[in-house]
Amino acid sequence: MCTKIGSNRTVLECIEELFRNNELSPEKIGYILTNMRDNEREYLLSSAYETRVKVYGNKVYTRGLIEFTNHCKMDCKYCGINRENGNIHRYRLTVEEILDCCNRGYKLGFRTFVLQGGEDIYFTDDIIEDMISKIKSRYPDVAITLSIGEKDYESYERYYRAGVDRYLLRHETANEELFNRIHVSSSFKNRMRCLYDLKKIGYQVGAGFMVGIPGQKVENLVQDIMFLKKLEPEMVGIGPFIPHKDTIYKDERSGTARDTIIMLALIRLFLPNVLLPATTALSSIDLNGRKQALKSGANVIMPNLSPTDVRGDYSLYDGKLSMGYEGGECKNFIEKSIEEIGLSVDMSRGDNIKWRESHDRS
Ligand code: 5AD
Repeated sequence: MCTKIGSNRTVLECIEELFRNNELSPEKIGYILTNMRDNEREYLLSSAYETRVKVYGNKVYTRGLIEFTNHCKMDCKYCGINRENGNIHRYRLTVEEILDCCNRGYKLGFRTFVLQGGEDIYFTDDIIEDMISKIKSRYPDVAITLSIGEKDYESYERYYRAGVDRYLLRHETANEELFNRIHVSSSFKNRMRCLYDLKKIGYQVGAGFMVGIPGQKVENLVQDIMFLKKLEPEMVGIGPFIPHKDTIYKDERSGTARDTIIMLALIRLFLPNVLLPATTALSSIDLNGRKQALKSGANVIMPNLSPTDVRGDYSLYDGKLSMGYEGGECKNFIEKSIEEIGLSVDMSRGDNIKWRESHDRS
């Protein structure tokens, strides 16, 4: 048991229990997070790595990311492309340009495209449907992930019918009060409604949160883990909060790579089958972040396939990387860096193992 405070051994016991059972009480997670020392952290990270190897071997799945619009009707206080920011150059790709990105990506070998954008009212459900049908008819063997925010049930259903396989919508934080403090135009209740609707429709769903949000406490991170365990998403995207110069949080501190990697490891242990990317935000604050993440439970990377001239405009936070190891065109470079750490790039669709058993549509 882990009720003794301050004993070096009990943290290890808690991690062992989690490693064995893929479950742990919120008190014990909180205990780990506040008392863990270096050797215990090493044990946590290696347990997470062992778990990912058991489920997905040494494969690292790749997704080609297409950030197709930075127009947004929302006003998330932390995000650089929020509607109030008059300092950024707004862009929107045409369906033809998006298809060009897919074409380039397909030739490079990508078999999953992640279409992400702000909540842009230009992209009506009709346009999204048309875009999806075109991509699917040209490339029937690719998986499409959509990430365009909060919609109603009917819209999500239409996208699914048009061929979208997966949907990413981070919950950002599982603490209702904190969520409502950092969002102006969206509510915690609606975000939850969206995530459960997506699950019900049959998508592979991606939730996730930011680490180090201004005002976030350890207990809030514990809530994030408990929420994920309950939702059981097929994918989880997490990254450090990073301030953006045009937001009210411009003078706040970033979340740390260390904390983000600990959270990645916990997520792998709680949800062994999850698809867990080493995110751009993590690489943006620590160039070694990606390798560390992949050695601590992460098993996905998402290189950028957007046209290079707009990449800088998708500025969610300051210092966001989009070239080099984060650029789809640098595939060989990326492959080499992954082989260097004993892993191997897998360019297939890379569906969630558990989801595939129960939902295969092909
Ligand atoms: N720092 C880190 N991540 C951010 N995101 C948006 N703004 C920031 C920021 N300032 C993340 C959110 C969102 C995803 C697309 O990008 O978690 O869901």
